[in-house]
Amino acid sequence: MNLPTRVLSGIQPTGEMHLGNYFGAIQQHIALADAHPHECWYFIADYHALTTVHDAEALRRGVREIAVTYMALGLDLERATLFRQSDVPEVTELTWLLSCVTGMGLLERAHAYKDKVANGLRASMGLFCYPVLMAADILVYGSSLVPVGKDQVQHVEMAQDMATYFNEAFGRPVLRRPEWQLSRAPYVPGLDGQKMSKSYGNTIPIFASGKTLKKLVGSIVTDSTPLGQPLPTERDNVLALLDLFLDEGERETVRGYYRAGARDGAPFGYGHAKMMLGERIDAHFAAARARREALLADPQQVDDALARCASRARALASETLARCREACGLR
Ligand code: ADP
Ligand code: TRP
Repeated sequence: MNLPTRVLSGIQPTGEMHLGNYFGAIQQHIALADAHPHECWYFIADYHALTTVHDAEALRRGVREIAVTYMALGLDLERATLFRQSDVPEVTELTWLLSCVTGMGLLERAHAYKDKVANGLRASMGLFCYPVLMAADILVYGSSLVPVGKDQVQHVEMAQDMATYFNEAFGRPVLRRPEWQLSRAPYVPGLDGQKMSKSYGNTIPIFASGKTLKKLVGSIVTDSTPLGQPLPTERDNVLALLDLFLDEGERETVRGYYRAGARDGAPFGYGHAKMMLGERIDAHFAAARARREALLADPQQVDDALARCASRARALASETLARCREACGLR
């Protein structure tokens, strides 16, 4: 049977979205939604967030922030589905069914679990079973393509294994095998040059503006080349961030300023490059910022959109779950 490509990805609501999230994930999600109308399913992974967030208000805020961010950035919820993971409780039932065919050994090999525990997170059952819930997320919607960052590839491979275990255990091809897809996104450096990440406190939020944005951009770490001297075009954080907003021609022009340490006969230094970057960020997200403000002022509109999407997702999940229940003798 030739099934259509079905795209699925989950986003954890664990903090303010930043430029790394935008260029590393959200931009591709929106592009995929344009390329595969009605076949993209994105959810806000609030069940997963419970492995680390134990603050109801923070969780609710995080969920709304992601919904508003995707909507403001242009994800069209008539053509793509964006929903709360916990609005589809069927996924937790599938988690149990998968748990019963999955060996402990598979989960014990999960890098993300080992890393989190090594970093001091309490080894709860939830944290340990995280990949089973993630497999259920993927399999319950019959997903074929899962766009993720490198750190999540192993989890998608585990979902492939779990689909096979289930189908073999019950002798029926009930669950579709998903493939992962790495985003072709650039590595976005943070203010200090490490990978931009909430965990490193080095982010530029997508919707930062005005003085806050100016201050953040001003704090990007550079070397100490004096004003008027040639600036390095390799390994410079300002240029790496600026590149994300420039077309080919503009990149060459700015590299010219860097190499000369001058623009139109006047000295050009990091301060000028930072000013260009601040202006680009500000302009790039101006329309989305305005849409975000409007959405934040009308939370009902956001809730209604999420609810409509959730009922589509739930209908799809129930069909898969009914087949799984049938296959394993639960009815
Ligand atoms: P964080 O590191 O801030 O906790 P997440 O791990 O929640 O971010 O990342 C969510 C998505 O954004 C993932 O798909 C990840 O690959 C992408 N992403 C996050 N930071 C970056 C970055 N600095 N460069 C490129 N992609 C990133
Ligand atoms: N674990 C993913 C992350 O931390 C989020 C996630 C949960 C997910 N379920 C998923 C991603 C299913 C893709 C598919 O980024």
